[in-house]
Amino acid sequence: MKVAVLGAAGGIGQALSLLLKTQLPAGSELSLYDVAPVVPGVAVDLSHIPTDVKVAGFGKDDLGAALVGSDIVLIPAGVPRKPGMDRSDLFNINAGIVANLVEAIADNCPDACIGIITNPVNTTVPIAAQVLKKKGVYNKNKLFGVTTLDVIRSETFVAELEGLNPANITVPVIGGHSGTTILPLLSQVENVTFTQEQIEQLTHRIQNAGTEVVEAKAGGGSATLSMGQAAARFCLSLVKGLQGEEVIECTYVEGDGSDAVFFAQPVRLGKNGVEEILSYGALSDYEEKCKKDMLDGLKGDIQTGLDFVK
Ligand code: NAD
Ligand code: LMR
Repeated sequence: MKVAVLGAAGGIGQALSLLLKTQLPAGSELSLYDVAPVVPGVAVDLSHIPTDVKVAGFGKDDLGAALVGSDIVLIPAGVPRKPGMDRSDLFNINAGIVANLVEAIADNCPDACIGIITNPVNTTVPIAAQVLKKKGVYNKNKLFGVTTLDVIRSETFVAELEGLNPANITVPVIGGHSGTTILPLLSQVENVTFTQEQIEQLTHRIQNAGTEVVEAKAGGGSATLSMGQAAARFCLSLVKGLQGEEVIECTYVEGDGSDAVFFAQPVRLGKNGVEEILSYGALSDYEEKCKKDMLDGLKGDIQTGLDFVK
């Protein structure tokens, strides 16, 4: 398995690369690319950890070499939020960064699974899809918006509230990855009953958890360590899938379009990326209303991405 991380010298990139260096299956390769000159140093640093995962660093002129032969490419390249900003405020800078990186993926490893972390995810994923379409290599089963952070936050906050072990909690999160488009399906958490007040408070906390971190870091960026963990979990699930195991994750993908063209939902991962889009099941009246209220916003975010690539 060869995994490339684009933006590997950043806050997420370094945490993610560390987790992959220690958790990818033996014999894997980890390819680290960034425009920041420190990236070869990050690779050397990681290479001293005694695992059977080969690490190589690639600077800004070596994107093609970083990508060739990759099975999975993860993209956390781009700028993060500061207090007072929305994820959509990152569009002007990050849209072009994602488009250029995805173009290089199309040229160098068109069959790779691509996990987009760069915000605004609701929009950067449609941008990636359009770039791949223009290049004639789009495979909707291999393009993912990484929304796993919303899932792990939901697991954590539910476990905290109920005094349970988060390892035993599963919370599907559907929709998108910003504000009210993040919709945790708390009605589906097994063996736990919430009051309506608890549901509304938890939903609000999960939807605003990114802002909680941005404010706590006070101008120093957004979530990097929890995101590194979330992206590593998603990548390792993709690896298991590609190796023939069946794994279920919620992720932002092009589905059947019944809610929106791109929509985060549970999918079964396998040898071909998405093997099956799974039903997210029955929603409570509250969840149904939340979904109805956010769909226009999500569709607008998607259209912005589709319009960006002409
Ligand atoms: P960061 O500033 O710490 O790191 C970003 C890295 O990207 C830097 O090392 C920078 O040099 C690199 N970079 C910039 N342009 C590049 C290019 N063209 N090619 C390669 N590398 C490039 O930021 P961060 O905290 O790691 O966040 C990165 C992105 O991830 C942000 O857009 C942030 O909003 C997003 N994010 C998404 C989620 C999610 O749940 N999907 C969670 C947290 C953060
Ligand atoms: C998050 O959810 O933490 C990320 O999308 C980063 C952000 O800007 O909130």
